[in-house]
Amino acid sequence: MSKKTLITGGCGFIGSHIVEFFHSQNHDIKVLDKYNHSNSLGWLDNYKFRNDIEFCMGDIRDYDFVKSSANNSRNIIHLAALIGIPYSYISPLAYLKTNIEGTYNILQASKNLTYINDIIVTSTSEVYGSGKIFPMTEDHSLNAQSPYSATKISADSISLSFYRSYDLPITILRPFNNYGPRQSNRAIIPTIISQFFNENKYIEVGNINTTRDFTYVSDTVSAFFKILGKKKYGEIFNVSSGFDISIEEVIKKVSKIVRIEKKIKKIKNRIRPSKSEVTRLLGDSKKFIKLTKWSPKINFDDGLTKTIDWIKSSKINLKNSSRYIV
Ligand SMILES: NC(=O)c1ccc[n+]([C@@H]2O[C@H](COP(=O)([O-])OP(=O)(O)OC[C@H]3O[C@@H](n4cnc5c(N)ncnc54)[C@H](O)[C@@H]3O)[C@@H](O)[C@H]2O)c1
Repeated sequence: MSKKTLITGGCGFIGSHIVEFFHSQNHDIKVLDKYNHSNSLGWLDNYKFRNDIEFCMGDIRDYDFVKSSANNSRNIIHLAALIGIPYSYISPLAYLKTNIEGTYNILQASKNLTYINDIIVTSTSEVYGSGKIFPMTEDHSLNAQSPYSATKISADSISLSFYRSYDLPITILRPFNNYGPRQSNRAIIPTIISQFFNENKYIEVGNINTTRDFTYVSDTVSAFFKILGKKKYGEIFNVSSGFDISIEEVIKKVSKIVRIEKKIKKIKNRIRPSKSEVTRLLGDSKKFIKLTKWSPKINFDDGLTKTIDWIKSSKINLKNSSRYIV
């Protein structure tokens, strides 16, 4: 039996785009994601080639399940995680278990699989906390400003320790904020867009002065594709567009594209606790670009338009814009 590329979290936002692209590049794919009683495959439910894919539905926190799922994998792309920062304030233990223990399970399960070429662990720019030196390189200090960030720092750290202790072929990709079709309505860009189409007079947001460095999801997918086979084990690579924009500016851009004007209303429960607020993220991906010749292909205005088109044409409930911003 040929060896497969295992994609954990493959039914989610970034994961489902990775699955589709890797399938188009002739990867034999296995997806590990969370079992649910309706047997939904998330964003892969309606995927044309889903019968080509082996689905392992269970729980990343379950070591025995992860061990059997990891068997026969040539590459592992580990994305499965709890990602919402606001919910990490409410349920930090769930984040610890899923993000740290889940990553440990993947690493531990891989230890005896001598045929694995690449284990790509997905980090996040949130591990840096508010940027201090711009643009932020991989050497930037780490600062756990939320339980989510703390669990991702821990997952990165345990991954590096497994590389150093057991020589596992682990590379860490550190994407900055992503956006695009299929992203949860809890994330900042879908939250803003969908509020332009609901009946409310206002766009309800938290802090509008913070800035983020946004990458369109297909560009992130190509970064995951390009890192395979590079054998840069034990290393961390930022994946970012290299420009940042404030949330206020994002709202203005969306308003211009959809040709709807609404007032901005700051809502208390959307604002992070002050010491937890990450004020600015602007990434430096030179290290990754030098290695892979990767570059982001979708500029922000085009990416926003594509995301708006998708939100308009998809059947997500626009009235039910989330109360939370990721
Ligand atoms: N979206 C972003 O802007 C962004 C930025 C940087 C890093 N990341 C990282 O990228 C990865 C994917 O994020 P995403 O935005 O696609 O999120 P997502 O929530 O859409 O996908 C996460 C997937 O993990 C699965 N999952 C969660 N708990 C699980 C469990 N207990 N067992 C098995 N599967 C489980 C979910 O079902 C989901 O399919 C995460 O590791 C996240 O930290 C995301």
